[in-house]
Amino acid sequence: MKKIALVVSAASALTFSAGALAAGNIEAGKVAAAKFNCASCHGANYNEAIDPSYPKLAGQHKDYLVQALKSYQRGAVGTSGRSNAIMEAQAKALSNADIENISAYLASLKGSLVLKK
Ligand code: HEC
Repeated sequence: MKKIALVVSAASALTFSAGALAAGNIEAGKVAAAKFNCASCHGANYNEAIDPSYPKLAGQHKDYLVQALKSYQRGAVGTSGRSNAIMEAQAKALSNADIENISAYLASLKGSLVLKK
């Protein structure tokens, strides 16, 4: 019985730390987004960008944001890269931790994006 309890708690500790890593840190993301001045184009609340052709980021899915930022880092390389002169330069300045944290922060914001199923 004791052995089972140990295994269970070890497994949940692992799940928890993996979850915490994948979740990113919202507060650190807020600081990083301010440092890199993402709002200068995507808008103060990340919901109304300075130009209608610039995407809204507030409330977007975190995993989508992570994927998009990593694609800009790759640029026009391979099948999953994104080629955009503006965002490629922005994304290349970010570390993996910055990407996780900023994406968690943006996903936590209220926005006008809606999910239809
Ligand atoms: C100089 C203006 C500018 C700045 C600064 C900027 N962006 Fe962007 N961002 C854009 C534009 C323009 C696009 C659309 C590019 C395209 O068509 O692929 C974009 C696209 C994105 C996307 C893709 C969204 C989607 O729905 O696919 C993400 C994510 C993003 N930006 C995050 C950031 C983050 C995080 C920062 C700060 C590190 C940042 N941006 C700074 C202009 C900017």
